[in-house]
Amino acid sequence: MWKIRTNTFLNFLIVIALVILFYYACFTGDSINPQRSIRRSLRKDIRNLKYVTSALSNPKDYNVWLIFTKVTNVSTLSYKFRDLIHNLLTVSSVPLKFNIIVDRVSQGIAENQIADLLYGNRTLVYSFYDIDESARKIQDIVEVMTPYFSSKPGTYYSDALFYISLGLFRIAPQSQQHAVLLDCDLFKPTALFGLAPELTPVYRHILHMYKAKHNTTFGDYYNTDAPTSNSIHPKGFQGYNSGVVLINLKAQRNSTEFPMIITNETVYRMTSKYRFRGHLGDQDFYTLVGYEYPHLIQTLNCGFNRQLCTWWRDHGYIKIFDKYFKCQHETVVLHGNCNTKIPK
Ligand SMILES: *[C@@H]1O[C@H](CO)[C@@H](O)[C@H](O)[C@H]1NC(C)=O
Ligand SMILES: *[C@@H]1O[C@H](CO)[C@@H](O)[C@H](O)[C@H]1NC(C)=O
Ligand SMILES: *[C@@H]1O[C@H](CO)[C@@H](O)[C@H](O)[C@H]1NC(C)=O
Ligand SMILES: *[C@@H]1O[C@H](CO)[C@@H](O)[C@H](O)[C@H]1NC(C)=O
Ligand SMILES: *[C@@H]1O[C@H](CO)[C@@H](O)[C@H](O)[C@H]1NC(C)=O
Repeated sequence: MWKIRTNTFLNFLIVIALVILFYYACFTGDSINPQRSIRRSLRKDIRNLKYVTSALSNPKDYNVWLIFTKVTNVSTLSYKFRDLIHNLLTVSSVPLKFNIIVDRVSQGIAENQIADLLYGNRTLVYSFYDIDESARKIQDIVEVMTPYFSSKPGTYYSDALFYISLGLFRIAPQSQQHAVLLDCDLFKPTALFGLAPELTPVYRHILHMYKAKHNTTFGDYYNTDAPTSNSIHPKGFQGYNSGVVLINLKAQRNSTEFPMIITNETVYRMTSKYRFRGHLGDQDFYTLVGYEYPHLIQTLNCGFNRQLCTWWRDHGYIKIFDKYFKCQHETVVLHGNCNTKIPK
């Protein structure tokens, strides 16, 4: 899978702090996690609700974060960038503020693209953040994660940007309280929250050594008919896909547990326990956290990140691929991962 994902989308992540959407997530029955009991989700939703309601009573910012680096004038990325901003402005009913992480060359190109968008009386509020400075703020986190979850040192996957979702709470101004992070190969950026399941057997593959020796649901496809047991995820656990990530920045800054989770000791312990050697960066980390510290991740239904990549179907998993790939929820976001064309 990693072989065919390209820099284009990974260079370009969006973070949206749309409190309204978060609020919607808490109320919409549909958004209840298919992978955990409804009751448990509801309790969590009610907890979130208080928090969200207080945030709503004082809504300051509707922030969109974009990472726009290593861009050249010829790259289609610059047009995707413009189209994305255009689309977000069109679908949004609140004034958006854009936060754009750039290098020096890319900043100039971004400014040109933005100028193209400003016709008539339209205004756009935006600020730039320097990529080097941002990377420095999360360097310690990247150093911990890279050896475990990057395919090769020095490849794109080991780039600091790949772990930005874990350190955004340090880069974003204190006034920003929640965020949603999207890959740019997404479609319909309208209503997105949290982490949705991975829809391929990639984690079954990565965990094959552990699974050969242990009776575990980790890496199994989600199966409503599975017998109830004491296991953390009795119905199976496909892992997470980080194409869409809801981030509670404020809770991360306040948490005493979170700094412990992102230490080398914890990551070493988790990867050793499951003999886990990943290559998908932050989503490998979230997958382990989802199994070891399930209270820290709110699972969204698969409709919020309907992935389209079928690479694993043709690479050894033809018999069971569809059990992972199925998604019975209404699609909110289509995710054309591994360069899959998004149907019109
Ligand atoms: C990109 O193109 C614009 C005009 O099309 C030009 O003004 C700008 O200097 C170019 N930037 C780079 C980095 O080539
Ligand atoms: C901007 O222009 C449109 C029509 O072109 C108009 O309907 C709208 O009221 C204008 N907005 C402001 C803030 O002037
Ligand atoms: C694995 O565990 C489940 C639930 O704890 C149990 O029902 C099942 O029989 C076990 N399978 C094996 C092969 O031990
Ligand atoms: C901050 O953390 C404390 C304890 O760690 C907790 O009681 C409190 O609810 C947290 N506040 C927020 C806003 O998450
Ligand atoms: C992380 O911990 C392991 C095991 O203790 C150690 O071998 C490794 O060097 C540590 N890595 C870093 C970056 O500290």
